[in-house]
Amino acid sequence: MSETKAPEQDLPTGFQIMEIDPDFRADPYPRLADLQKRCPVHHDPVLESVVLSSYDDVRSVVNDRGLWRNPARGNPRAVFSRVSDVSGERPQSILFMDDPDHARVRGPLTQAFYKRAAKIKPQVEAIVDEVLDGLASRPSFDVIADYGVPVPILVIAAVLGIEKGRLREFREWSEGIIHVLNALRTPEQEQALLAAGDALTSFFAEAMADRRANPKDDLITDMVQLQAAGAELSDDEISVNLQGLLVGGNLTTTDLIGNGVRAFLTHPDQLAKLRADPKLIAAAIEEVLRWDPPITMTGRVASHAMELGGEAIQPKEALISLLRAANRDPTVFDDPERFDIARKHTPHMAFGGGAHICIGAPLARMEGQVALWKLFERFPNLKLADQELTYRALPGFRGLEKLVVEI
Ligand code: HEM
Repeated sequence: MSETKAPEQDLPTGFQIMEIDPDFRADPYPRLADLQKRCPVHHDPVLESVVLSSYDDVRSVVNDRGLWRNPARGNPRAVFSRVSDVSGERPQSILFMDDPDHARVRGPLTQAFYKRAAKIKPQVEAIVDEVLDGLASRPSFDVIADYGVPVPILVIAAVLGIEKGRLREFREWSEGIIHVLNALRTPEQEQALLAAGDALTSFFAEAMADRRANPKDDLITDMVQLQAAGAELSDDEISVNLQGLLVGGNLTTTDLIGNGVRAFLTHPDQLAKLRADPKLIAAAIEEVLRWDPPITMTGRVASHAMELGGEAIQPKEALISLLRAANRDPTVFDDPERFDIARKHTPHMAFGGGAHICIGAPLARMEGQVALWKLFERFPNLKLADQELTYRALPGFRGLEKLVVEI
């Protein structure tokens, strides 16, 4: 006689819900739906963390300003407790800071960054046009390497005010610093990362000194001026957080473009709908962010004992919010597996929430809209080349290695 298993026994767990697992990478959604249905608050024994997959729990946890963000404050055995240098010896990016430092640094950074993002659209359009001009004479190209990678780097370079003569170096460093997110980096990538970190640190030190003497119309100038006007920010904090914009913004926006192009080219009815009504582009980008978000999870640490979905949570437990699972919760989104750009209700969680909500969201949204619309407009016959699509094995990120298209 076969015994009935307790439902928790065969729950997807540990690396089965991480991009390291090739089957999960190829199609993560069935496992996530299973976990969400059977155990939306899961004490995962492998990750030593509480994994949250329902929309309501994810939303309430990421929006809870009383929880901590710095992984070093939680259980040291939790899988993400070692994701960054949290020794406290060097200044941190706001990504892993808690209050009061988080609010002190994020306040002026947001003030300056939002103003820049609000007026950069004409430059983004010019950058996108120029990159597309370079692709137009080719029969095919890789949307990731040839389009999704250069556009966000050139855009953030414009926001920061990088001079034309230094763009090539800046691009190389930006591609190097991204490996900080890659736990599986090769020794060569490790070298590239270290070299890029050093180069960017001296570059920003020089640039800050230069902007103090010769102010320009750029974000580096904004930050040193806010500091001079009394914002409590050290030079190192400015430098680390400007580098944080490269790390936080480049790969994510690359993947928004890649995931979006793939979604449309595999759903020609949705592409036809967009072509017929270009005003749908803003809604279309929100649907790409809901349906296949570039960042798949975010973390918090329980600062006190609490309860979630009837489960007791102990102080210091690590909480992993599966943003991508929340985005397909059937209690919030009708027919959540369907890619539908005409959805009326898309309160997705792709940018997280609360005190740490993505600072780059306005820029990423606008860039995604310009990049996708202009690509489809320029190449009316764009189609996928014959290829096997594979996703990067980078935990927490959803992005294609390559996406070859024919024009
Ligand atoms: C589609 C593109 C993007 C996605 C999906 C994305 C997603 C996210 C997510 C999920 C978080 C964590 C939020 C939380 O824990 O509640 C975050 C934080 C952050 N993002 Fe983005 N991001 C994108 C683009 C950008 C861009 C373009 C920039 C900058 C230029 C940026 C800079 C940051 C920074 C600095 C943080 C840390 C904010 C804090 O902790 O206070 N991101 N992002």
